[in-house]
Amino acid sequence: PNEPPVVFHWLPVIGSTVTYGIDPFRFFFDCQAKYGDIYTFILLGRKVTVYLGSKGNQFILNGKLKDVNAEEIYSVLTTPVFGKDVVYDVPNAKFMEQKKFIKYGLQSGALLTYVPLMQDEIGNFLQGDSHFNGQHGTISIPKVMAQITLFTASRCLQGIEVRQKLDTTFADLYHALDDGFQPINFMLPWFPLPQNRRRDIAQRRMTQIYTEIIKARRAGAEKRSEDILWTLMDSVYKDGTPMPDNEIAHLMIALLMAGQHSSSVTSSWIMLHLAAQPEVMEELYQEQISVLGNTSKPITYEDIQKLPLVMNVIRETLRLHPPIHTIMRKVKNPLPIEGTNWIVPPSHVLLAAPATMGKSDEYFPNAAKWDPHRWECMADPADQEKEKMDYGYGLVSTGADSTYLPFGAGRHRCIGEQFAYVQLTVIVSIMVRKFKLKNVDGKTGVVATDYSSLFSRPMEPAFIQWERR
Ligand code: HEM
Repeated sequence: PNEPPVVFHWLPVIGSTVTYGIDPFRFFFDCQAKYGDIYTFILLGRKVTVYLGSKGNQFILNGKLKDVNAEEIYSVLTTPVFGKDVVYDVPNAKFMEQKKFIKYGLQSGALLTYVPLMQDEIGNFLQGDSHFNGQHGTISIPKVMAQITLFTASRCLQGIEVRQKLDTTFADLYHALDDGFQPINFMLPWFPLPQNRRRDIAQRRMTQIYTEIIKARRAGAEKRSEDILWTLMDSVYKDGTPMPDNEIAHLMIALLMAGQHSSSVTSSWIMLHLAAQPEVMEELYQEQISVLGNTSKPITYEDIQKLPLVMNVIRETLRLHPPIHTIMRKVKNPLPIEGTNWIVPPSHVLLAAPATMGKSDEYFPNAAKWDPHRWECMADPADQEKEKMDYGYGLVSTGADSTYLPFGAGRHRCIGEQFAYVQLTVIVSIMVRKFKLKNVDGKTGVVATDYSSLFSRPMEPAFIQWERR
């Protein structure tokens, strides 16, 4: 009674799990056509209430802390990977303090120092990787981008000790942890999967490695540069407690995992689109020449902000290929929905999918087309900003009423946006300088999306051809 309509289904527990799982966007739009912006579907026995559109984003992402809860949903998945006492294993007020500590290491002052480190990593990778021998070749773009992203992000965010270990033992530990980050653990967190055993061993070993690094730093290593590990080592909670070593270690693991997939899949999609539309890659090359004068000098943080086409390429790619298609919250109190006589009861999960707006012709004419130029004649999303955040590189709206929210909104909003933009800009700019890309075998367009993991990614195989400029 007085609950939103339930999406029709034949099987009780399975409900709409399969249709949603194969292509969530098609599912959201099909249901929207039948039921409107608000409807409930069954996901593995749970009642999940979707609320689309700006009002839905507002309702869910800006819901009150006492009404909607993220950690009760995400913790089963994240706590075994990150470790205890951080992120979703603590009350939100504590996590908010932890987010603030990390944000400090992601301010423009820090980003400035990351740009040369990123270029160093990309240069070394392209020189050392056998797929880039010779004048031309074919590469699996998701594999290459996953490595470039991991090396650049870890060099900047994790510090030199961890980056050096990534060439050896740490890489295996990373993959073991990553394998434990799977949707199946939402449903069967207690199930003794072999990858969960490996995950737990890797989690403990990694915590140990970080703890050793922290001890070594405390024992007298000089501060070489501001990195997040140093920042966390100096962090003190509001109640006066310095952050304990095990929390620092676990937060470092969380950070290692948080940005990796979203940035990595985004850079893959960018390369796939550039291969499909080489004329845009040429424009990017010309932009560098006209703005920077030449393409042989290293790129600086200031340069990055003078390259609007790169920025629009990233924006446009995140519009069509948002890495995160679903945001969930557990309902804690009966929640009446304004303008209807429906009440969402506490047994439900709320689901926001702001990315549906980005894929809708209503807000983005000819929405299915990847066209970075469309942003030139659109109002800067930053103008729509409600709660402006203190970012030197703040570009995109943070208020939940925007039609474009690839980084979420509200208290759980992403803190990695500026870092991701810098990282993606450096990667794209270097690739543009060095290579021309094209599709293999005269194929057109880009591959379909694989929704089977937590982050939407290009369906593999996804090969493209490169040619040295
Ligand atoms: C939260 C997207 C990169 C760290 C989020 C959320 C989204 C998102 C949609 C909100 C989740 C929710 O409300 O449940 C992205 C995209 C990225 C990206 C599209 C890149 C293209 C990064 C990077 C980092 C990072 C590089 C770290 C350096 C975080 C953290 C949160 C977050 C700490 C907060 C979670 C919370 O408060 O519950 N991100 N992210 N992200 N992201 Fe990102």
